[in-house]
Formats: sequence, C-alpha cells, structure tokens
Amino acid sequence: MALTFGTDLSGKVAVVTGAGGVLCGMFAKTLAEAGAKVAVLDLNEQAAKEIADTIEKEGFTAKAYKANVLERSSLEEVHASILAELGPCDILINGAGGNNARANTDKEYFEMGDIEADVKSFFDLDQSGVEFVFNLNFLGTLLPCQIFAKDMIGREGCSILNISSMNAFTPLTKIPAYSGAKAAISNFTQWLAVHFSKVGIRVNAIAPGFFVTQQNEKLLFNEDGTPTKRTEKILSATPMGRFGDASELNGALLFFLNNEAASFITGVVLPIDGGFSAYSGV
Ligand SMILES: NC(=O)c1ccc[n+]([C@@H]2O[C@H](COP(=O)([O-])OP(=O)(O)OC[C@H]3O[C@@H](n4cnc5c(N)ncnc54)[C@H](O)[C@@H]3O)[C@@H](O)[C@H]2O)c1
Repeated sequence: MALTFGTDLSGKVAVVTGAGGVLCGMFAKTLAEAGAKVAVLDLNEQAAKEIADTIEKEGFTAKAYKANVLERSSLEEVHASILAELGPCDILINGAGGNNARANTDKEYFEMGDIEADVKSFFDLDQSGVEFVFNLNFLGTLLPCQIFAKDMIGREGCSILNISSMNAFTPLTKIPAYSGAKAAISNFTQWLAVHFSKVGIRVNAIAPGFFVTQQNEKLLFNEDGTPTKRTEKILSATPMGRFGDASELNGALLFFLNNEAASFITGVVLPIDGGFSAYSGV
C-alpha cells in the first residue's frame, strides 16, 4: 500500500487521464488507496482495464473507460458513464501526454553541413508530428477540463492537477515541440487557476524531472541496458545524482488534492526533480 500522507479522499470521484500509463496508473492506485472512486481513462482500453482490475483486487474502487482526450465526443460519452456509475467529478488529473519522434531533432546543436548530411535537423521537423505533440499535451489537457470541471462548479473541495515537465522551465535539447507544449500546460495551469478562483476550483501542476518510463526509455538506455550519453548528462545535471522513483511523486499529488493542507494553493507548478531546475551546472 502506498503512503497516503493523511489525505482522505473518501467519497470523492477522481478522473485520471492517461491512467493506463506508468505515472498516472500509479496515481490512480494512490488516489484509490486514499479513498477516492477512480475513473481510469486511457486511449488504450486494455491498459486502463489492467490498472482498474489491480485496484479493485486490492479492495478499492476503480472503473476503466476508453477515452480519447483529443475528442470532445469521446470525453462527453465517458463523462456521462462516469456520472451514472461513480458520480460527479471532484478531482481531475490530466495525465495523458507525451512526445513523438517526428517532432525531435537528431542532434542537440545544428552544425555546418547538417542540411546535406543524413540527419534530421530543425529544418526537417514534421509539421504533423509537431501538431500531434502540441495537441496531445495542450489540447489533451484543456478539453478534459472543459468536460469534467463543469461537475465541480458549486461543490466544495474540487481540484485539477496538470502534468507539466522540467522542460517547461528551460527547454531540453532535441524536443522543441514537447518542451513548448509543456510550457503551454504550465501557462494554462496559471490561467485556469485565476479563471476558476471565484468558484473554488483549485488548479495546480507538478513538473516531474526525470523518471524512467516507456516513453523515454529509448532516449535514456541503449539496447544493451547501458546508460546513453543523455542519461550521463541528466544525472550530472541533477544534484541528487539519480533518476526519480515514480512513487516520489505521490506526496505532491496528495498534498495538492488535500483541501485542508493546500486550501490556499492554486496556480502553482511544482518541480519534483532532485534539484535539476535549481542547478546552473556550475
Ligand atoms: N516519465 C517522465 O519522466 C515524465 C516527466 C515529466 C512529465 N511526464 C508526463 O507525465 C505524463 C504521464 O507520463 P508517463 O511517463 O506515465 O507516460 P506513459 O506513456 O506511460 O502514459 C501515457 C498514457 O497516455 C495515454 N494516451 C496517449 N494518448 C492518449 C489520448 N489521446 N487519449 C487518452 N489517453 C492517451 C497512453 O495510452 C498512455 O497510457 C505525461 O503527460 C508525460 O508527458 C513524464
């Protein structure tokens, strides 16, 4: 059982998008252990079912829903089912997100000769890849807020948690679209916090540093399991000298959702990064 740090979410309905994935699957379990009834949403229905089944087997409440955060009709349909089966949404975690190789450059720096060489430079970035990454992260956060935050209006203790990233503060090399899209999420978190401040909905975000999951595994480790050059750079730029363990995000998750502990906190983007964003490298 995960630590719930004294946060009691009994009676609350938590909707978690991207909950078939590594980080948000864990968030779904943590919220269920804290007492919430959890709607496990993912485009990958099988992954969502596996998470919901694990939660149910442990005696907590969860239900899987296939949902596409980029399609309003899909979200509306799932919203209607959640209302009927679990009740109105009190907590929304916008976890669906990620990057795509079509929006990455091969190299960190553009150098003379790159246009002629067989490398994917800035000039070769695929427009549809960039659009995909922007939409998945930004629109895929905004649309679920439109659909699920309506349930929160006029009800006490409701809040939204978005997932930003380290690269929102300072962009990481090679991934301009993902960096820009996460910066947009941080910005939107502040915007929505202000917009909803009169109706009692708190909106915050966490900005995880480096945690190994499916989506970044290939960037961080070679096929033989040895660390890539990027891993060496990340670890030397992380004062704590290691990757984070996903469970180390749980404290912030539960703190932000705890309406007694965090009652006056809205519009905040919290780095959870072993000191990465504080370190200049010197
Ligand atoms: N892993 C890290 O180090 C790290 C760091 C910073 C931020 N993040 C962010 O945390 C969040 C979760 O990341 P993760 O590492 O657990 O990734 P993950 O790939 O394990 O999970 C993402 C999930 O989102 C789902 N998804 C993708 N498109 C969808 C769509 N259109 N509709 C609904 N679901 C969709 C996927 O099926 C997947 O299950 C993402 O927003 C990611 O950008 C991760």
